[in-house]
Amino acid sequence: MKALVLSGGSGTRLRPITHTSAKQLVPVGNKPVIDFGLEAIAAAGITDVGIIVGKTGPEIRAHIGDGSQYGINVSFIDQPDPLGLAHAVLTAEPFLGRDDFIMYLGDNLVAGGVTEFVREFEETKPDAQILLARVRDPERFGVAELGDDGNICRLVEKPKEPKSDLALVGVYLFSGNIMDACHAIEPSARGELEITDAIQWLIDQGQTVAQHTITGWWKDTGKLADMLEANRIVLDRYETRLEGEIDAASEIQGRVVLEAGAKIINSTVRGPAAIGANTVIENTFIGPYTSIYHDCVVKNSVIEHSIVLEETSIADVPAMTDSLLGRKVEVAHTETRPERYQLVLGDHSKVGLI
Ligand code: G1P
Repeated sequence: MKALVLSGGSGTRLRPITHTSAKQLVPVGNKPVIDFGLEAIAAAGITDVGIIVGKTGPEIRAHIGDGSQYGINVSFIDQPDPLGLAHAVLTAEPFLGRDDFIMYLGDNLVAGGVTEFVREFEETKPDAQILLARVRDPERFGVAELGDDGNICRLVEKPKEPKSDLALVGVYLFSGNIMDACHAIEPSARGELEITDAIQWLIDQGQTVAQHTITGWWKDTGKLADMLEANRIVLDRYETRLEGEIDAASEIQGRVVLEAGAKIINSTVRGPAAIGANTVIENTFIGPYTSIYHDCVVKNSVIEHSIVLEETSIADVPAMTDSLLGRKVEVAHTETRPERYQLVLGDHSKVGLI
């Protein structure tokens, strides 16, 4: 079995972070989202991995390299335009041939990995196997309608009026027959070749499409609220590991990961939290569910329930919560009189002021 990991797309819902960088590289619990998927694939014993890349290809290639750090062999496949998930499968046809494969959307996080689903597929040998999860906002996803027997009757991509709360998770298992389906379907109203339509085509042809409704958590990390939730879930699973320096005036409470080279000076870090390599935290309170990535500086501030990307500096911010800061951002108190907010914000930035 092979794997096809999709790491193109423009990540419009996570702007401005994703204006300049790939959504799959935004970290949760200080680890790029795509790493969770690649590790899950490796854990299922799959080593032959194709990765579809688009405009952000150079960054993804630089991060993943040859895949040896994950124990996989990686082939990068260029998809110049994001014309849909089924189009990505067609683009990967020279790599996939008619082999069985797992397709994994690089911005999805699935608890407990994928090993169980891969084994189930290998044992029961359906033409395709999809994963479903109950969600509160099915209109954001592909939605499945099941019959009384629990079999799938219909799959609809982002229906305005969903007939069920069962969303398609971004992890699919396919036999080579999916190639015929991807060749047969037409673009959807949003102009994309939808994998949802390709699977519906298999159903219409009388082929076996199995489903597995997952009960553990699953996140499509497309939006800020989902990123923060994924960050909470991932941090909750970390055990304490303190490799950085903590001075005598500082306190670590609860489960905290402190990477090598990080320094905690006259501060309290209350877990679950993760502080990246070479980050300096000084005269600061870091509250629960905060991930500060590597090479940041935080001084005289209070931060909780937030994600901060690398090389960012924060100074004299008395209360920051529910926030996502990008790379090399500077947040500081201004000394201007009269007191005013001084803002330099990029396109699609969002600021909540008190
Ligand atoms: C895609 C699929 C959708 C699925 C979702 C899961 O949506 O088209 O059926 O439910 O991934 O993350 P997209 O992220 O392209 O909007």
